[in-house]
Amino acid sequence: MDKLILVAGGGGFIGGALVAKLRELGHTRIRSVDIKPTSEWYQVFDDVENVVADLKEKAACEAACRDAHEVYNLAADMGGMGFIENNKALCMLSVLINTHLLQAAQQAGTVNRFFYASSACVYNADKQTNEDVVALKEEDAYPAMPEDGYGWEKLFCERMCRHFREDYGLTTRVARFHNVYGPLGTWDGGREKAPAAMCRKVITAKETGNHDMEIWGDGKQTRSFMYIDDCIEGILKITHSDILEPINLGSNELVTINGLVDIVENIADIKLDRHYKLDAPKGVNGRNSDNTMIKELLGWEPGIRLADGMKLTYDWIHGEYLKKHGSGVAG
Ligand code: NAD
Ligand code: GDD
Repeated sequence: MDKLILVAGGGGFIGGALVAKLRELGHTRIRSVDIKPTSEWYQVFDDVENVVADLKEKAACEAACRDAHEVYNLAADMGGMGFIENNKALCMLSVLINTHLLQAAQQAGTVNRFFYASSACVYNADKQTNEDVVALKEEDAYPAMPEDGYGWEKLFCERMCRHFREDYGLTTRVARFHNVYGPLGTWDGGREKAPAAMCRKVITAKETGNHDMEIWGDGKQTRSFMYIDDCIEGILKITHSDILEPINLGSNELVTINGLVDIVENIADIKLDRHYKLDAPKGVNGRNSDNTMIKELLGWEPGIRLADGMKLTYDWIHGEYLKKHGSGVAG
């Protein structure tokens, strides 16, 4: 019989895409768990065991891990800068999810792979003060000075994975995602990240005829953005690898936020009047992924070009916008 795979956070953006991929690969026993009602999941499949539960609770984690052979922890209370800067305590409470999932996975006795989704937000802030960045290497997480709230929780959970591996023999794997984007993810409501936010703002301008566009910060801050398909491929490769320590999973195609807006304007064939909101949540000035380690250990790195991934993302968000607001109405 096919082995049971648990996807925690399966109602979310990355969790939903992982469930879809596992089905595509032929897995027949998948359990997808999320706190949201299934009506709010990005992807729901009838042939998957869909469970609504709060994984901050130990009992829910025990039930979720029962008979599981692989566990993917993609459940967290998180979002883009607008969310994590204003919800530090909430972000830190996700520590309960990983704590109880690790304990439940270890106690289940059947789990031979445990994947944890960490973040580039674990990296030391001193290494990210300049837009003109030196890409972040795995060793740059220490000495520790991560993003307040969310980043500390991620760094702590990385360590917990390491110690469950060393002390209890649970086979844990950890990837540090750099800003992930794509269709079937959050594009409005306050938790969205820059790629989805830029698509929504440009689409709103196009549909309403109001060509003013607000951009947080001065637009010169830099980031790299990874398309969802690369993220899922990387998760599966890292989970089944021998890589013991946390590793970058991100694109190294560096872009300014202004450059990201240029890409979206080109897709939409429009030029907007940009206004910069300097007191908005900004995060670090510059961040990029150094992919030396992943190339060396896996012979692979995320390679989908930003302009290509953004076109697919824009088209999907445009469809969602029209479903929600119709054409020509403010959103
Ligand atoms: P998401 O918000 O779309 O998905 C997370 C899911 O976890 C949501 O569906 C949410 O309802 C669920 N969840 C939250 N609390 C829960 C609980 N108590 N019990 C059960 N489910 C719960 O976010 P995502 O982009 O899919 O992120 C997945 C993982 O990857 C998270 O751990 C996130 O921190 C990490 N990550 C994402 C990015 C990114 O750019 N998307 C970057 C770095 C790290
Ligand atoms: N979200 C958002 N919305 N960001 C905007 C906007 C907007 O309308 N306008 C400009 N920005 C700027 C932000 O101020 C920030 O400087 C940059 O775009 C990127 O913002 P986000 O995409 O929200 O987040 P991030 O890259 O700083 O951090 C994200 O990635 C991490 C992993 O690399 C977050 O999602 C973290 O949760 C994640 O771990």
